[in-house]
Amino acid sequence: MKLLGISGSLRGNSLNTAILRSVAAKLPADTVLDIFPLNGIPPYDGDLDTDTPPPAVAALRAAIGAADGLVIATPEYNHGMSGVLKNALDWASRHYGAATLIGKPVLTLSASMMGTGGARAQAQLNETLTAITARLVLRPQIVVMAAHEKVRDGILEDTATLDFILAGIGDLALEIRARAVPA
Ligand code: FNR
Repeated sequence: MKLLGISGSLRGNSLNTAILRSVAAKLPADTVLDIFPLNGIPPYDGDLDTDTPPPAVAALRAAIGAADGLVIATPEYNHGMSGVLKNALDWASRHYGAATLIGKPVLTLSASMMGTGGARAQAQLNETLTAITARLVLRPQIVVMAAHEKVRDGILEDTATLDFILAGIGDLALEIRARAVPA
């Protein structure tokens, strides 16, 4: 199973990216999770949204298309998802009706230093994915509060949190397999 991880944070010491990396290191042997960095994605511009979009956008769309499912981790900025993540999803939602994100199984999570764990950002992220008609994995939300106390040296050390996220990956795998069964 080929999973694509997307972190809504660009910074090197991102807690969200660290969580994705830690999960990637604990997956079963038949599952890989590659992380697509959003650093190179330009601001959405309809004039550039042609049959030959910016190369980073083409790469993002292709990576989504090639993945069996996505794992998206968002920080919370002013009660919403990060601008870079919303921007990337806007690019990924095009071309209208033919986006590689349509029908794609997606597991979402949020991580923040606050006690709210980015829950408001995740709600917004889930709403945007619903608008795109991605296939959101419905399960108890993965909200990592006080994430700075759970991640040390770029590794998610809190085993309860890691196990909860891995259970979410299990639910994502079920969704992917259900989708693969011919009607
Ligand atoms: C934040 N942060 C934040 N946290 C939160 O829980 N709720 C919020 O509304 C905000 N708002 C906010 C705005 C801006 C502009 C920044 C830069 C930060 C804190 C933020 O969630 C925290 O720094 C996370 O650790 C960022 O995620 P990464 O980069 O560690 O993945």
